[in-house]
Amino acid sequence: MDFKLTEEHLMIKEAARDFAKNELLPGVIERDEKQEFPKEQVKKMGELGFLGMMASPEYGGGGMDTVAYVLAMEEISKIDASASVVMSVNNSLVCWGLDTYGNEEQKKKFLSKLTTGESIGAFCLSEPEAGSDATSQRTTAIDKGDHYLLNGTKNWITNGSTADFYIVIAQTDVEKKHRGINAFIIEKGWKGFDIGPKEQKLGIRGSDTHSLMFNDVKVPKENRIGEDGFGFKFAMKTLSGGRIGIAAQALGIAAGAYELAKEYSKVRKAFGTEIMNHQAIAFKLADMHTSIEAARHLVMKAACDKDNGENYDLSGAMAKLFASKTAMDVTIEAVQVHGGNGYVKEYHVERLMRDAKITQIYEGTSEIQKIVISRSILKD
Ligand code: CAA
Repeated sequence: MDFKLTEEHLMIKEAARDFAKNELLPGVIERDEKQEFPKEQVKKMGELGFLGMMASPEYGGGGMDTVAYVLAMEEISKIDASASVVMSVNNSLVCWGLDTYGNEEQKKKFLSKLTTGESIGAFCLSEPEAGSDATSQRTTAIDKGDHYLLNGTKNWITNGSTADFYIVIAQTDVEKKHRGINAFIIEKGWKGFDIGPKEQKLGIRGSDTHSLMFNDVKVPKENRIGEDGFGFKFAMKTLSGGRIGIAAQALGIAAGAYELAKEYSKVRKAFGTEIMNHQAIAFKLADMHTSIEAARHLVMKAACDKDNGENYDLSGAMAKLFASKTAMDVTIEAVQVHGGNGYVKEYHVERLMRDAKITQIYEGTSEIQKIVISRSILKD
């Protein structure tokens, strides 16, 4: 497989790396500690074009390919996975979904603000009793003629309080099960739409995660995305692409931790020499590097499949499964290489280890990726 990067790809990678080092690194420890959303930094990400990278230029998007997107995701995630999850949800789940399946009016009204960061988006599928089992939606949107009446609760919503526009998946016809599900665009501030308290999280603490409550919210008919009953397929297609973004996030977390461990091993001395000269450490670094390279190949394969118009359900799920395990394994080892220093905040690796865990949970747990993979490989 030849993943030769173009000049443009390399420029985007460098721009993302510079942004992460100059704008995200200062304050990343404090934001994690205080659970503070990177508001100013996300605004700058919008100005630099990182929030709507793959969306159509006519709606303010960058018109870039998925390879460019995963390169930027990796670089930003090396430093600040809280910022990169905002980027991932906005790009993959919201902008891509609207750009691909929204109508002209919806694109003009919502997408053109989301691509530039003027507005932020959220994707609302999970519920208290429908996390992995996404077909069991309890949130209902009942057809009332010129509008739908939305009722229910959504859980663990990234950008829960900072978003302006929310894509909400709801059951419109219980009898039809997943074929009676629709996706709607909801605006912040609508009557009956309440935002619950911020979740206190283990990792990605800078991102804001909330429950959302809908109580007789009137949703105009024109805010439904796609044909009646398209909502579940919309969610699945959107999540398939989202998983490539999260795989790139996991890859970035792993690569960030590895780079820190490698540098530390060159300066930290024990038993009379730099610790890199001990095989106990060198072998760890060899394993970390190998896993990261393997994860990078899977992420690039999935991104290329998407760019080449191939099916990416399987490659995206494999990339997410493997990269998220790599993120977990590598960050644990990076803490170990740092010894006692790895356990304190200023060395960054403990945060990366906490951030890594969510990549095995959101946008489908590792077990869900195995369902997608096994169904795909066993279907013929
Ligand atoms: N593309 C298009 N259609 C798809 C599809 C895909 N990738 N996957 C499934 N479908 C369709 C199927 O074809 C089927 O439609 P028909 O009956 O019309 O043929 C329908 O969807 C139902 O499919 P299944 O029978 O396979 O459904 P299932 O109940 O067995 O579940 C699942 C499939 C893969 C487990 C799915 O429920 C799933 O992905 N669950 C995980 C949900 C998830 O990822 N949640 C993450 C929340 S978002 C988030 O985390 C964002 C964040 O904050 C960062």
